[in-house]
Amino acid sequence: MTVSNSSQLANLFPAEDQIPVEYQIQPLHQREYLINGEMRSWDGPTTDVLSPVCLTGPNGLERKLVGSYPVTTDREALEALDAAVAAYDNGRGEWPTMSVGDRIACMERFIGKMLEQKTTVVNLLMWEIGKTLGDSIKEFDRTVTYIYDTIDALKDIDRAGSRFKIEEGIIGQIRRSPLGVVLCMGPFNYPLNETYTTLIPAILMGNTVLFKPPKHGTLLHYPLLEAFRTCFPKGVVNTIYGRGANVVPTLMQSGRINVLTLIGSSRVADSLKKMHPKSNRLRAVLSLDAKNAGIVLPDADVELAVKECMLGTLSFNGQRCTAIKIIWVHRSVADQFLRRLSEEVNKLKPGMPWEPGVQITPLPEPQKPQYLTDCIREAEAQGATVMNEGGGVVEASFVFPAVVYPVQKGMKLYREEQFGPVIPVVPFDDIEEPIDYIITADHGQQVSIFGTDTGQIASLIDPLVNQVSRVNINAQCQRGPDTFPFTGRKDSAEGTLSVEDALRSFSIRTVVATKNTDGNKAILNDIVGQHKSQFLSTNFIF
Ligand code: G3H
Repeated sequence: MTVSNSSQLANLFPAEDQIPVEYQIQPLHQREYLINGEMRSWDGPTTDVLSPVCLTGPNGLERKLVGSYPVTTDREALEALDAAVAAYDNGRGEWPTMSVGDRIACMERFIGKMLEQKTTVVNLLMWEIGKTLGDSIKEFDRTVTYIYDTIDALKDIDRAGSRFKIEEGIIGQIRRSPLGVVLCMGPFNYPLNETYTTLIPAILMGNTVLFKPPKHGTLLHYPLLEAFRTCFPKGVVNTIYGRGANVVPTLMQSGRINVLTLIGSSRVADSLKKMHPKSNRLRAVLSLDAKNAGIVLPDADVELAVKECMLGTLSFNGQRCTAIKIIWVHRSVADQFLRRLSEEVNKLKPGMPWEPGVQITPLPEPQKPQYLTDCIREAEAQGATVMNEGGGVVEASFVFPAVVYPVQKGMKLYREEQFGPVIPVVPFDDIEEPIDYIITADHGQQVSIFGTDTGQIASLIDPLVNQVSRVNINAQCQRGPDTFPFTGRKDSAEGTLSVEDALRSFSIRTVVATKNTDGNKAILNDIVGQHKSQFLSTNFIF
């Protein structure tokens, strides 16, 4: 749809009675939180959750109230920490000492209860963050698949650990053990999926967790708390609400957090890590900022490059850490690429998340439309142009995508992670220009190369694999498949988060060893034969 003014966008927002009945929502006012196996009630301050979806009414456009949730304080955060520390009990608690098979059984029960909440969670995903219905369903289903795959990966790891090794006269059994108390914080753009890609492996490996839902995408976790409460021993999963800047430092400064896992900003991760008094005791598993570049070479299949760049830059309005956030295009194909890209952008359908075929939806971060407008205006003041008609038109939480060209050094769009529907395009003559851009960047997650000359592609692969963690050829940047390693260099990540790697990230290899003597063999045989230990065991999970 070509948008020429903001009133066209304003007309896309519905009145309350135009919301299809199956997606209507009654405000959900959460007044409880999960600590130590109890849903505790809260009568303190709360914060309203306002949807990116605005409704038309007598006062014009207003963000729809989705509900509210507790703003708990340091006190509740420390109670949650006490509960997690007690449940871990220095590795002697019920959960960290439970057999892997029994832990998996708890998780399978959890999946069953999670599935019962699918419709509610999907509806909340749409209302809280404006994700399309199709993508919200995908996020839920992908998360369930991720949990099943994680269980399978854990079985494989456990099977590999179910045998003894004999080397240099030493008998040993090597397994993975938990790390302790994990503080887990997810992002707003994949509030369910990305939170669970750390939370679930952390739990499965025998850790206990403090879980702080993201600022946008909080309420959708509420219907799942009862499943956590009933499927795991008390204190294994505890929730933290309230302002992160107030409660999280207290937790880090306590020195009792063993693993910080955060999918969010490198600035926040950097400052939180420094708050821990015993830095060597803290493990960090982080997925952070990125400014992935697309590079369109002179011999690229322009149609393919446009198709993949559309997906890469504008899926979920560009709000993906893996999004392509800047495109370098060789000057010889720049005109053709920009014309086709602009045409395709203007075919996108903006609308409400539940509308069939909708691709551009309202943005959840209240300041984002103004920020994106500032970026575009600043680029224009320095000589860039919005190439597509209607690009950058804003109405309330809606921003129609803008293709901005030529972007250059010194503009916000050149280095800042815009995390929204603005596509900066930079022309280049010499391939050293985009390479130098990537080398001098603070980020190092992924890159996409578009071309057909195998010599040139190969000559880019070799330097770029040492700058980023995934080089995509004629394909957009993305995290999946979830069995592929997902990580980044520099300020983009710490640790790796594929299905199997995440299990490793939240555990440590531990060995039980003895000298290969008759006496020791008899001891091992007795322990194993009589099933006296969970760790020292040859039990095999099928
Ligand atoms: O926000 C970052 C997500 O991990 C992106 O995942 O590439 O599968 O959309 P995705």
